Amino acid sequence: MRLTQVLAASLCASGAVQAVAVNPLPAPTSITWGTSGPRAFNGRNLALNGAPNHVVSDAWDRAYSAITSLHWVPQATEAPIATYAVFPTGTAAKRRGTTTLNSITVQVADSKAPLQHGVDESYTINVPSTGQVITITANTTWGALHAFTTLQQLVISDNDGGLMIEQPVSISDAPMYPYRGIMIDTGRNFITLPKIYEQIDGMALSKLNVLHWHLDDSQSWPVQMASYPSMTKDAYSANEIYTTNNLKDVLNYATARGVRVIPEVDMPGHASSGWKQIDPSIVACADSWWSNDNWPLHTAVEPNPGQLEILNPKTYTAVQKVYSELSGIFTDNFFHVGGDELQTGCYNLSTITTEWFAANASRTYNDLLQHWVDNAVPIFANSSGNPNRQLMMWEDIAISTPHANTVPKNIILQTWNNGPTNIKTLTEAGYQVIVSSSDWFYLDCGFGGWVSNDPRYDVQVNPDAVDGNPNFNWGGNGGSWCAPYKTWQRIYDYDFASNLTSTEASRVLGVEAPLWSEQSDDTTISSKMWPRAAALAELSWSGNKGPNGKSRVTLLTQRILNFREYLVANGVAAAPLMPKYCLQHPHACDLYYDQGAVA
Ligand SMILES: *[C@@H]1O[C@H](CO)[C@@H](O)[C@H](O)[C@H]1NC(C)=O
Ligand SMILES: *[C@@H]1O[C@H](CO)[C@@H](O)[C@H](O)[C@H]1NC(C)=O
Ligand SMILES: *[C@@H]1O[C@H](CO)[C@@H](O)[C@H](O)[C@H]1NC(C)=O
Ligand SMILES: *[C@@H]1O[C@H](CO)[C@@H](O)[C@H](O)[C@H]1NC(C)=O
Ligand SMILES: *[C@@H]1O[C@H](CO)[C@@H](O)[C@H](O)[C@H]1NC(C)=O
Repeated sequence: MRLTQVLAASLCASGAVQAVAVNPLPAPTSITWGTSGPRAFNGRNLALNGAPNHVVSDAWDRAYSAITSLHWVPQATEAPIATYAVFPTGTAAKRRGTTTLNSITVQVADSKAPLQHGVDESYTINVPSTGQVITITANTTWGALHAFTTLQQLVISDNDGGLMIEQPVSISDAPMYPYRGIMIDTGRNFITLPKIYEQIDGMALSKLNVLHWHLDDSQSWPVQMASYPSMTKDAYSANEIYTTNNLKDVLNYATARGVRVIPEVDMPGHASSGWKQIDPSIVACADSWWSNDNWPLHTAVEPNPGQLEILNPKTYTAVQKVYSELSGIFTDNFFHVGGDELQTGCYNLSTITTEWFAANASRTYNDLLQHWVDNAVPIFANSSGNPNRQLMMWEDIAISTPHANTVPKNIILQTWNNGPTNIKTLTEAGYQVIVSSSDWFYLDCGFGGWVSNDPRYDVQVNPDAVDGNPNFNWGGNGGSWCAPYKTWQRIYDYDFASNLTSTEASRVLGVEAPLWSEQSDDTTISSKMWPRAAALAELSWSGNKGPNGKSRVTLLTQRILNFREYLVANGVAAAPLMPKYCLQHPHACDLYYDQGAVA
């Protein structure tokens, strides 16, 4: 009884989509397929209505080249069990049709709108049932680029040497959230430019629009600085450095694909390499033993220790020069200045700090962080650099232990702890937030611990003979602080704004999935990032629910499996999610036959 109802409901819910097959990722907010039959495609000609726009014409060249070089064939539709179609559908003669779609007109209302937070990314695509012209409209260049990454997923091989679109189709699309990002970390391990470009390619295809670049960390400083050339003595090698031109190349590559790049220099915590080359006196506890084994003496969350000396005036001279140099290179209005995980124990090794506390017994570490905010924020907010500067910090600066007493409300906070609880706390307090809740969105979790000489792995029985609990490796978290691994379903299912008032919800600017790189470099970054980041992309573009308010995670299955194949075909080394059998037999690998099992 229940099963029949659910299947009927899901058939109804997908409505007109049933006739058709090819479904792009992210699912557009509105897509209406016709039923008059396939349209042959040879759309080389792009007619731009209005001023020449090289960003748009270059993007079309790339999309057209992918279409014609791949002659893509998705595996199968996402229709319910036993009713799926294999591509291309229809007979060869029918696929050819009587007329060919041979040109595309693109109307961009405002081709000058810069790629910044909140820019209009909407677009429409109309593939008509008759005539030869596909019509695209967009308010900005960036909307037009999204139209192409949708269209390139719709044009498939006709298995007869040609190309086709399965049916006439009309799409009207725009994102739910203006901030849809991933984070790379080039401080723990270096990542080469080609691998960064590969991430941007995956982002463009899935309509993610923010690359948060955690440039450095305590372990290494890979960014060449004209103001302080000595900083790159703490790069891992002379080959693992980003020159200013490299940074600009990444910016240009990303901008051409509608992706913003937000740099992060993490301060005052997570700061040692590079800074200590400027002046050893601006870094506290550098090169101390991190002392996780003797907690009262511990100085860092992970090796190697080092935090900026908050009370040393020389610190702010260095911060000002580093910030203003990078601020002049990165064109985004947003700049991330860190602010996470300050370790109080580090400052036990700082004379200037222990004397400051000794001079006034009422002082707390919150006061110390307030000193940082009061002295550093005016440097970051310096309007002679970028008058539209918008600062981002990790939420710790406002709500962790310790935290600053007063953090300006115009600083955007990136939340990573306590899931929906912290999102509520911060938005209720009036902060705008980026959601990166580690229990849902951290892509580095679940790969085991990475520190060595760890006796907890050395347990020969299961369960543990001493306390009867599952031991560290078998039943425990395997040493990963944020285990387990976050699956694409876990990511997609996150209803991060569900308990917010409408005012609070309006303060959620979007989402971001970080990939901290203690265990990632060129060899693993793409398989850890993809295709899971595509689940985040759809979650933030058109949501995780269908028009009936029900979860569409089960419907996402076939879409994300096909998209993974498409990423790989386009040079993004995305990991397989299932045996290929599951891709070729939609829903055969579901846990529940009941297609409504996930409410
Ligand atoms: C463009 O902007 C107008 C006015 O704000 C809006 O109605 C429309 O939906 C936007 N998108 C497109 C693709 O035209
Ligand atoms: C730092 O010093 C204080 C005061 O001497 C002490 O109580 C604390 O245990 C030390 N270590 C840490 C990690 O705070
Ligand atoms: C001591 O520190 C407290 C807490 O920051 C502050 O309110 C107070 O004014 C300080 N006293 C002196 C004499 O600086
Ligand atoms: C603001 O920037 C200008 C120009 O780069 C610089 O001269 C000035 O010192 C800066 N002020 C602060 C507070 O950083
Ligand atoms: C929303 O709030 C309710 C009641 O406080 C709670 O039971 C539920 O877990 C919350 N949901 C989320 C996603 O935070």
